[in-house]
Amino acid sequence: MAFHVSKLTLRLPKPVSFGLRPVNGTKHSCIDIKFTNITSAANSRSLHSVFRQASESWLANYRLLKPKPINFRWAVSTAKRLENFSSASVASKSFHLKSTPNRNSWSRLYTVALSVLGLSTGAIAALHTSVLLAMSETIDLDSDRTAWQDAKSLLLSASQEKRRGHYRIDYLPLEEIPVWTSKGASPAQSRYKSNDALRQKISLFRGDITKLEIDAIVNAANKSLLGGGGVDGAIHRGAGPLLKKECATLGGCETGEAKITGAYGLPAKHVIHTVGPIAYGGVGDKERNALRDCYLNSLETAVQNQLRTVAFPCISTGVYGYPPEDAVEVALATVREYLDEHHEQLDRVIFCVFLKTDEDLYQRNLPLYFPQAESAGQSESPPGGQDPL
Ligand code: APR
Repeated sequence: MAFHVSKLTLRLPKPVSFGLRPVNGTKHSCIDIKFTNITSAANSRSLHSVFRQASESWLANYRLLKPKPINFRWAVSTAKRLENFSSASVASKSFHLKSTPNRNSWSRLYTVALSVLGLSTGAIAALHTSVLLAMSETIDLDSDRTAWQDAKSLLLSASQEKRRGHYRIDYLPLEEIPVWTSKGASPAQSRYKSNDALRQKISLFRGDITKLEIDAIVNAANKSLLGGGGVDGAIHRGAGPLLKKECATLGGCETGEAKITGAYGLPAKHVIHTVGPIAYGGVGDKERNALRDCYLNSLETAVQNQLRTVAFPCISTGVYGYPPEDAVEVALATVREYLDEHHEQLDRVIFCVFLKTDEDLYQRNLPLYFPQAESAGQSESPPGGQDPL
C-alpha cells in the first residue's frame, strides 16, 4: 500500500511551488518544495503555521496508516536530520532527505528536497518533536523486531513522563533514595577527612538495582555482555530483548572495562556494563586492580556521557566469588577518590546492595571513607581535598 504524498496537505505560502519528480538514477521519487525568497515577517510567520499544519497532517496520516515499527528508522533519522538542518544557520539551502523504500512497509517513503530561505528553526524543531512524539506512542519494547537504535533514540529524547509509559517494571524515583548519614566509626579511624559536600552525594540502598530511576545503573556482566544470572540476568529481564540486541553490537567487554548502552524497559536511562574479576582462588593485586578499574571506568563512562546519578551493585561478590569484605574497601576507596577529583560532575553515587550482610558491611565501612564531621577540632576538607591516613 503506497502512501501518496498527495495525502500530505501542504498549504504553502504563495512564493512556493512543489511537485513530485523522480530522482534520476535511483528508484526514489522526490517532492520538491521550493520556498523562494522569503524575507517578509508575514511570510515567515505563515511558514511557521504551515509547518505546524504539515506536521499535524503528517501525524494524522501516520496514525491513520498504523505504520509498522520498521519505519521508525526513517522517521527518526529524518527528524534528526531536520533538526540538524534547523540548528544550522539558515540561509538558502537545498536539503535532501533520502529514504530507502521499504519492501513491505506501508508507504513508499519519498525523498523530500527542501530549499529554504530564512526558514525559522522553530518550525522544523516542531516537526521533529511531533514526529518523535508520535513514534514514541507506538514503540514496542517487548519485540526484538523493533530496531534498538530507534527505541534508544526515542526513549532518550522523550520526557520523563513519556518514558514512564514504557517502563517494563515498577520504579523508584531518585528523590525517594535518601542520602547516606553515617552512624558509628569515630573519626579517629576514618581514612579520609570528613567532607559534607561529598557525603551528600552518597547513598546506601538495599534492594533491586533495576528499579532505580536514575541516569545509569551498573551491570556486573560477563565478557560476552549477552546476559547471565544474578544482577546481569535481572537487568536484561527488566530491559527486555532490545538490550541484548545492542549489547551484541559491542564486541564483548574485557575484565575491568566498562561499556554503555540504553536501558530500554528499565527506569534508568542507561546501563553501564562492566566485568568484574573472578576471585575464587583468592584476591591478589591483579584482582584488586581489576575491581578498582570496574568502578573507575564505570564512573568515567558516566561522566563522559554527562550522567550525574549512578548506582553500583556489589560487583564480583556473587558468582565471581570476590570476598565482600575485601570488595567493599576497593569500592569505597575508588569512589571516594574519584569524587574528590570529580565532585562537580556527579550528583549521586548509590551503593545498591541486595543482601543484608552487604548492607551491614557497607554501614560499617562507609564512615571510614565518608566520615561525618565530629567535634569542631576536625576541619572539613574542601571538596577536592582528601587526607588519606
Ligand atoms: N539488584 C542489586 N544487586 C543484585 C541484584 C539486583 N537485582 N541481583 C543480584 N544482586 C547482587 C548479588 O547479591 C551480589 O551481591 O549483585 C552482586 C553481584 O552478584 P552477581 O550478579 O553474581 O555478579 P558477579 O559476582 O559480578 O558475577 C558476574 O554472574 O550473573 C552472572 O552474567 C553474570 O557471568 C556474570 C557473573
